[in-house]
Amino acid sequence: MSRILLGRLSAARRPATIPTFQRRFFHNAEKYDALVIGAYTNAEEISLSATQSISSGTQKVVLEQLAASAFKKQGDVRTLYNVGGVKQVAVVSLGKKGETTGEAERLESARMASALGIQALRKQGVKNVGVDVSVSAHGAAEGAVLAQFAFDKLKNEKSRADAIQVTPFSESAEESKLDWESGQIYGASQNLARMLMTSPGNLMTPKLFSEEVAYLLAGLENVEVIVHDEEWAQRQKMNSFLAVAKGSDEAPRFLEIHYRGATEDQAPHGFVGKGVTFDSGGISLKPSNNMALMKGDMGGAATVAGALYGISKLQLPVNIVATIPLCENMPSSKATKPGDVVRAMNGKSIEVMDTDAEGRLILADALYYLSSKFSPESIIDLATLTGAMDVALGNVYAGVFTNSDGLWSRLNEAGILTSDPFWRMPLHEGYLKEMKESDVADLNNLGKGRSGGAASAAAFLSEFVAGLDPEEGYKVQHPAWAHIDIAGVMDSASTHGYHIKGMSGRPTRSLIEYARGITTKQQ
Ligand code: BES
Ligand code: MN
Ligand code: ZN
Repeated sequence: MSRILLGRLSAARRPATIPTFQRRFFHNAEKYDALVIGAYTNAEEISLSATQSISSGTQKVVLEQLAASAFKKQGDVRTLYNVGGVKQVAVVSLGKKGETTGEAERLESARMASALGIQALRKQGVKNVGVDVSVSAHGAAEGAVLAQFAFDKLKNEKSRADAIQVTPFSESAEESKLDWESGQIYGASQNLARMLMTSPGNLMTPKLFSEEVAYLLAGLENVEVIVHDEEWAQRQKMNSFLAVAKGSDEAPRFLEIHYRGATEDQAPHGFVGKGVTFDSGGISLKPSNNMALMKGDMGGAATVAGALYGISKLQLPVNIVATIPLCENMPSSKATKPGDVVRAMNGKSIEVMDTDAEGRLILADALYYLSSKFSPESIIDLATLTGAMDVALGNVYAGVFTNSDGLWSRLNEAGILTSDPFWRMPLHEGYLKEMKESDVADLNNLGKGRSGGAASAAAFLSEFVAGLDPEEGYKVQHPAWAHIDIAGVMDSASTHGYHIKGMSGRPTRSLIEYARGITTKQQ
C-alpha cells in the first residue's frame, strides 16, 4: 500500500482502503531501484502479467511506452525509466497470452524473461531488483540466479560484476516464497557446477575439487562426504581408474558422498560422475586446438556435486549415494601406454587401445564400486564421455542410454520441466560386440573407429554395473541404470538469457528435478 498516495489525500477524503484502480505505482515501489516485469504481446494488444501488483495508471504509462517501441516478439526487452515510482523497469515479452499453458512452458517463459530482464539491467548500476513472479516464482528465481553467473574472481577488481540483490516483486510475496526459494536453489546448484567446470585445471585438481566440494556441502544436514585417496583405491583394486591417474603427478581422489533424506530401509539412488580434471588424451595425445576445453572434462563430477548441493539444501526425502573418481589424464613416462592391459575392480581385463578413451576406464571402477556395495535402487552416471555424442545431438539434448523404461520416463519428465532435456539413445549388444574384440583381454576400451562411438562407450560401461548382464541383451530392466553422455552439452557457444557462454553446468537442475520426482512418487 502506498503511503505517498495517502499523504496527498486530505484526511476527510481518505478512503478506508484504496481500490486497486486508484493506485498509481508499482506495489512497494520504494523497495526497488529496478524491476523486471513480463508482458504479453498479442497481435495488436499488449498487456502486463503482474496486473495485481501494478496500478492501472502505471500500467497505462508502461503500455503506451511499449506500443511506441515496436515491442512484439517473445524475448523482446525494453527498459523504461522513472515510471510508477521506480527508476528502471525492464519489460520482457512473454509472447502471446494463452500460448504458454503447460507447466514446462510456463516455467521456461518465466526463466527466460527474468534472465533477459536481469541482463538488460545488469550493467546499469542497479542494486535492488524486483522480479515479476506472476507466471512462475520458481522459474523467475532460476532465471535470475542463472543469468547472474560470472566467473570473474581471477580478473582485476574493476572488471568484476557488481552483486545485485534480487527479490520477488509481488503483491502476495508470501505465497510465492517457497517457490522462489526452490528456484534460487536450482539456479545456485547449476552455477556451482558451472564454477567447478570453468575453474582452470591448475586450480581445480582432484585434491582441490574434493576440498571444494567438501567445503560446499559442509554444514548441510544429512550429508556425509568421504574423500578417499590413492592408497584406498589401490586396496579396492580400482586398477582401471588408477591406470588413468598414473600419468600425472597430481594425486587422484575418489569422492563418496551420502545424502540421507529418507529412512534407512529405503534403498539409495546412485549418481556417478566422471571427474577428469584435465584430459590431455594421455599418450594418445589430443591435438592442441581446443584442448583447453578439457578442463571441463569433470562435468559429470560437477553436475553430481551441484545436484547433491541442491538436493540437500531442499532436504528432499530420498537417499542418494554418489561416487566421483577424480584424476588428470596426462602423458608421461609413468603413463599407461596404448596396448597396456589392466584388471578392473570387478575382475575384467581391459586392453587400453587408446589412452584418450579414459572416461570409461575411471567410470568402470566407480560404477562397480557403487553398484556392488550399496544395492542402489537406480544408478545414473554422467560423463563428458565422447565427441561422438556431440556429433549426434549437439548441445540441445544430453543423450541417455538406459535399460529401464521407468528410469527413462522419470529422467525425460524431469528434463522437460527444467528445459534441460534428454534424448534416449540405444543400448544394444551389437555395440558391445566391438568392445569385446581384444586379442589379449576381456574388453578393449576402443570401439570400431568413429562410428557409433557414444553407443559403444555406453555398452562398455554396462559391463561394470553389478547385477546387469549385457549378455541378456539389456532386456532385463533391473538394476535400473542410465548413462548420460553430456559431452555435447558441456559448454554453450553464446549467451542468451539464462544460457551463458562457457561451461554450462548441465544437467544439474534436471538431476535435482529427477530426485524430486522420485520423492513425490514414493509418497
Ligand atoms: N573427454 C573426451 C570427450 C569429449 C570430447 C568431451 C569433446 C567433450 C568434448 C573423452 O575422454 C575422449 O577423449 N573421448 C574420445 C574417445 C575415443 C578415443 C574413443 C573421443 O570422443 O574422441
Ligand atoms: Mn579423453
Ligand atoms: Zn575425457
